[in-house]
Amino acid sequence: MNQLTAIRACVFDAYGTIFDFASAAARCEDIPEDKRAALTNLWRDKQLQYTWLRSLQSRYVDFWQVTGDALDFTLDSLGIATPALRERLMDLYLTLNAFPEVPGVLRALRQAGFVTAILSNGAPAMLNAAVRGAGLEDLLDAVLSADAVGVYKTHPRVYEYALAQLGVRADQISFQSSNAWDAFAASDFGMRVVWCNRYGQRRERLPGSPDHEVRSLAELPALLGAAGG
Ligand code: LAC
Repeated sequence: MNQLTAIRACVFDAYGTIFDFASAAARCEDIPEDKRAALTNLWRDKQLQYTWLRSLQSRYVDFWQVTGDALDFTLDSLGIATPALRERLMDLYLTLNAFPEVPGVLRALRQAGFVTAILSNGAPAMLNAAVRGAGLEDLLDAVLSADAVGVYKTHPRVYEYALAQLGVRADQISFQSSNAWDAFAASDFGMRVVWCNRYGQRRERLPGSPDHEVRSLAELPALLGAAGG
């Protein structure tokens, strides 16, 4: 296997990579089961679009606001908008499930001596709530938010921020994201990248070329020469 070498820090995208954003609608009894997938997908698509559009327009608001705006658009589109449903879903977004392999993988990486961190568009309070809710606070050395630089991924300033905070070079980071656009951009920036392609996405036709493509983070420790997972 083509192992990643000279890596010091393992940096993870949050939503879709560590945390299952589908678990909000899945845990919301008030949404008819046949509408949950549509809600999850449109909510996510709009949330991402708003991060990119606001970055292009230099009209930053934090990811909590973006997530709420995207939810409003989605509930309106599906014809199920009520203040109570909005509040419930936003609440659930603060305690998303972590994917099942995540705690074991972080533990194995830590034991092997890697620094572990999140680098996410998420606002700090959202990320901290999700990390705490999933019991990951002792398994992460840093939780880094794009909020500190006031622009969203894929702006290079966000990836740059991780280097400054962790005190490592780009090529000493193994960056994991389930979002193809994020994986390609981090690779173009100069990080080593493991694209955790949980959702069976196609390759982007954008700059960058992830070093590895896996289906779950459980494959990561072996790629880094760390035991277990
Ligand atoms: C993040 C989203 C975009 O955590 O997945 O940055």
